[in-house]
Amino acid sequence: MTDAAVQIREVGLRDGLQMVRTILASEQKLAWCARMVDAGVRDIEVTSFVPPTIVPQFADAVEVAAGALAIDGLHAAALVPNLKGAQRAFEVGLRKVHYVLSASNEHNMKNVRRSTAESVEDFARIVAARDDTAGGVVLGAGVATAFGCTIAGEVDERIVLGLVETLIEAGAGEITIADTVGYANPAQVYALLRQVMSLAGDVPVACHFHDTRGLGLANVMAALDAGVRAFDASLGGLGGCPFAPNATGNINTEDTVFMLEAQGMNTGIDIGELLAIRESVSAWLPGEPFTGAIARAGLPKTFARAEAVAA
Ligand code: COA
Ligand code: ZN
Repeated sequence: MTDAAVQIREVGLRDGLQMVRTILASEQKLAWCARMVDAGVRDIEVTSFVPPTIVPQFADAVEVAAGALAIDGLHAAALVPNLKGAQRAFEVGLRKVHYVLSASNEHNMKNVRRSTAESVEDFARIVAARDDTAGGVVLGAGVATAFGCTIAGEVDERIVLGLVETLIEAGAGEITIADTVGYANPAQVYALLRQVMSLAGDVPVACHFHDTRGLGLANVMAALDAGVRAFDASLGGLGGCPFAPNATGNINTEDTVFMLEAQGMNTGIDIGELLAIRESVSAWLPGEPFTGAIARAGLPKTFARAEAVAA
């Protein structure tokens, strides 16, 4: 990836749908995925392997993951909160699995009913299971509540950095730093991500921002300055964590792509097509809040995609 290329990872089907009341049919989820790929999105977190009793939306995780694997050009990933989820994801044949734990012990207890230290131990078991049964699968590790926590308040940077080091030593093939609750500001993002980038070395680093307090895209700029070139985003800004009070959606995919492309950073994604997909998905999800400045105001007449700028 060149310096001017940025990877956008769609998480609307996972982070977005986990808060939504309407349960989409597997066919709708797969149509959403296929259309995103046509729009140029290569990387999608397609589902979450959690118990259906906890998030009924993901009762069809196996069907959606299997269907996503059949879509040409799609690098499908799924979220897993524990070993059982990882085993289910390996069984379906996913090549990329995202594990998540929280830097805030209190959030981890609420979210996955164990301490952060126990989640670290679980990750080691997941790596061992991968090595036994699913060689070649890339295990991403996400550190949630990395910039603060609605339950615990401040989260010490040293805890986040310690987790990054431990997870990489344990076998993480990628690190995601997540502002689960929308507490981060650009100065904090720059300071933390500089250190994470230097710790991670060759291991790719991504950021996951929520726009809860309006600083999502400013935080993307700060992370870009720190060298990050991969971001989670959600179509129409859907999303939120059911275990983080007042959480709202992820940074909006359309707006994020607009910001990057407008400054000559190539995402490979067509914003017009994203807006068309958004129309369909919002019609499937009546009453859900969809955000987005580009959907509201349209692209500027002067807008040119990054390739055109670079040419
Ligand atoms: N997928 C499907 N079933 C699972 C599972 C998974 N990933 N993990 C556990 N189960 C099943 C167990 O087999 C067990 O079933 P049984 O009662 O029929 O024997 C039951 O669920 C309870 O298992 P246990 O290991 O005791 O889980 P728990 O009750 O301690 O819950 C988590 C732990 C991690 C499964 C739960 O807290 C969770 O799903 N958290 C994720 C929440 C989320 O989606 N957050 C947003 C994304 S970050
Ligand atoms: Zn999130």
